[in-house]
Amino acid sequence: MATQFGFLSKLEFLQDWASVLLAGLNPAIIHNLEKYHVLKKVHYLSSVEDVSGDYLEFGVFTGSSFCHSIRCCRKLAYLNKKNLNTKFYGFDSFSGFGTLSDDDKHPFYTDENFETSLKAVEQRAKRAAKNDIEFKLVPGFFNESLKGGALEFGIERSRIIFIDSDTYSSANDALTFCAPTVQEGTFIVLDDYFSYRGSESRGVARAFNEFVAQCNIKVRQVFSYGMGGVVYIVSEKKQ
Ligand SMILES: C[S@@+](CC[C@H](N)C(=O)[O-])C[C@H]1O[C@@H](n2cnc3c(N)ncnc32)[C@H](O)[C@@H]1O
Repeated sequence: MATQFGFLSKLEFLQDWASVLLAGLNPAIIHNLEKYHVLKKVHYLSSVEDVSGDYLEFGVFTGSSFCHSIRCCRKLAYLNKKNLNTKFYGFDSFSGFGTLSDDDKHPFYTDENFETSLKAVEQRAKRAAKNDIEFKLVPGFFNESLKGGALEFGIERSRIIFIDSDTYSSANDALTFCAPTVQEGTFIVLDDYFSYRGSESRGVARAFNEFVAQCNIKVRQVFSYGMGGVVYIVSEKKQ
């Protein structure tokens, strides 16, 4: 074994080939592939753990992760038929971030990168759902669209929560909305958890820390993925 390793370490062209390939790969591709992978794992785990409830995604953009989640849930229905009862909710302004507070400002989170069309996302989700899965896309800025609370949408329990809206204020609105829906076994996927140079007093990390303290829950980290995404599970909910 040691000799084989020694031989491989001399194949410099192989190392250079792998390095050139990785160095040239767009980081967004790496991030999105790992995001898809982690969403698949979370759908698998909630199927085998028999966690029922709805899928709530905050920050849908063109619908790629939303549609991927629908597909994963449908395909895993052979493990748990109740998957088909999962209702998918996607929340987005479909016009970017709106006006950001000074504290939420970030060089990458700007409206010109995130303008999209609700109609196109709806068509895309329809194709993924194939009449098996119910979904609803809710347009609007979270401080308006979420203010009636989860019960207004008929959401009682969340199975998977995916926060992909990047800023503190949007994540805070989303998590406050989700608070009454979390149960033991709810997975919470947090993209951009380490944004704002890793600060815990800004961005998604701040919103999540406040949410955990206010909800009287215990959470455990399950995975990390991509360029700074993490996944938690609610391991205990105190009454
Ligand atoms: C990174 S993109 C979402 C990507 C998507 N989850 C995917 O993987 O395909 C972030 C989205 O969050 C939305 N967003 C950010 N802040 C928001 C707010 N306060 N209210 C509503 N939508 C918001 C933006 O419009 C944008 O589409």
